[in-house]
Amino acid sequence: MQEITLPGLSGFRYLPGYFDRARQEDLVETIRKILTEAPLFQPVMPRTGKPFSVRMSNCGPLGWVSDINGYRYQATHPVTSRPWPPMPQMLTELWQTVAPDCPPVEACLINFYAPEAKMGLHQDRDEDTFDAPVVSVSLGDTATFRIGGTSRKGPTTSMRLASGDVVVLGGEARLAYHGIDRILKGSSTLLKNGGRINLTLRRVTKG
Ligand code: SIN
Ligand code: FE2
Repeated sequence: MQEITLPGLSGFRYLPGYFDRARQEDLVETIRKILTEAPLFQPVMPRTGKPFSVRMSNCGPLGWVSDINGYRYQATHPVTSRPWPPMPQMLTELWQTVAPDCPPVEACLINFYAPEAKMGLHQDRDEDTFDAPVVSVSLGDTATFRIGGTSRKGPTTSMRLASGDVVVLGGEARLAYHGIDRILKGSSTLLKNGGRINLTLRRVTKG
């Protein structure tokens, strides 16, 4: 397994091709079932109510939501009010592999990017603990991912995340600014209607 790190950003790990094609297909099938139980919803920005360009859902005991009142984790889907579907085994195993000393994963945010979608530079800081990493899985079309340091200013590095790639934001990189500049439309055949799914695994409570 290839592992790429960044000089000057400890705790950042890029694991290209972590999931092979067959496992990507299994994972997509699993996510598809989750989305029939917990449909993608349209998050909006706190205060302004401006819609995100991505649509979201979650699995695991907690899910991340954003609405007019703010960003938060909650145990239920904001539209159906039902509990989030359970965390799939493949994701629990990924977490145990890359974060073996951490308490169990509690949330998996599912982001769906249509070809025009993007995600502005931000930090993941709505959790009660930053001791565990955020672990990301890319499926479908390749994305241009940008990562900087722990301040909004300062240099950033850009890399292409392809289907099956895993990124670990731990240590100093846990609070690194990051975002998605663009999706390379048609770059993968994994999702039959195109686009990109990104899964982010998080520990939310101190535990
Ligand atoms: C995120 O920061 O929540 C998503 C990152 C990605 O789509 O790769
Ligand atoms: Fe993020």
